[in-house]
Amino acid sequence: MRPKISIIGSGRVGSSVALHVGMKSLGDVILVDIVKGLPQGEALDLNHMAAILGLDVEFVGTNDYRDIEGSEVVVVTAGFIRKADMTRMDLLSKNSSIIREVSHKIREHSPKSKVIIVTNPLDVMTYVALKYTGFERRRVMGFSGLLDLGRYKTLIAKELTVSWNSIEAPILGEHGDSMVLLPKKTLVGGRRITELIGREKVEEIVRETKGMGAKVIALKGWSASHAPGAGAAVMVDSIVRDKNLVVPLSYYLQGEYGLSGVCTVVPAVLGADGVKRVIEIELDPDERAELMNSAEKVRQAQEEVERLLVE
Ligand code: NAI
Ligand code: 2OP
Repeated sequence: MRPKISIIGSGRVGSSVALHVGMKSLGDVILVDIVKGLPQGEALDLNHMAAILGLDVEFVGTNDYRDIEGSEVVVVTAGFIRKADMTRMDLLSKNSSIIREVSHKIREHSPKSKVIIVTNPLDVMTYVALKYTGFERRRVMGFSGLLDLGRYKTLIAKELTVSWNSIEAPILGEHGDSMVLLPKKTLVGGRRITELIGREKVEEIVRETKGMGAKVIALKGWSASHAPGAGAAVMVDSIVRDKNLVVPLSYYLQGEYGLSGVCTVVPAVLGADGVKRVIEIELDPDERAELMNSAEKVRQAQEEVERLLVE
């Protein structure tokens, strides 16, 4: 039997995750949405794609959470994107309610699954999902690190005229303005980019990477979807095929990096059981201070969400 991968939310990001999971032939894909017709229509379209390409996978669209039963992985993309007229608090409030409801459904209908959260604000929504699924922490994680790294690598690749495959870079912290990129630990052919690119240009690359999500929304009118779909499928692949890839993912820390009780992006080994272990990178004092500041922002948002969800 093929693995079952469920995707909650069949909008732009959800349908892109479905497409990339299908293209990698990782298993059968269940698309769920509250909008009638949308997941069914996406599934039809994707099945036609599979027939053209000869992919041995099936897509099913549904409005019924009972159909996610027995999923190996559930990817959650349900929720709003932050539009210009929406405050940060509006997004936090609306999406935390959605993630709480979706988490209850996952716990009821697919209690053994691994859960990948994509909905923003990413780290806080990962925290909400951990709390309301009640799953062990290794089974709940957030996607964003691969996206931010993809953006960072494209800028470095362009500056140095090298393939992005030749760049090794870690990332830590919040998926947001305070994300922590580590130029002193970003390597091209074994050399730090700080030896290859001038300080001002490095600072510009870091700034541009942090602003890239907003730039894509400003240009397209809606969120990035192709890159997030591809990145989330890499995580699904590592779980379904027990690949043990080291992936930057948002994770509830319990002492790693000196942090506890907060979800933030760290590199981790990802396999069939979910997150197998966190990789701890030795940080310089300035890098550590940046990470602490970033994690503190998430912690404050987690506390806001705790208040919002009891009101
Ligand atoms: P979208 O508006 O195209 O799709 C969202 C879908 O969720 C809609 O079809 C909606 O009907 C559905 N939905 C809402 N409540 C639901 C529920 N209770 N059950 C099932 N479905 C439900 O939005 P898009 O562009 O797909 O973005 C989705 C989320 O992903 C946003 O929060 C966005 O900010 C986030 N995002 C995160 C990224 C990351 O790197 N973590 C990257 C890109 C987007
Ligand atoms: C992004 O970084 C908005 O999280 C989304 O594109």
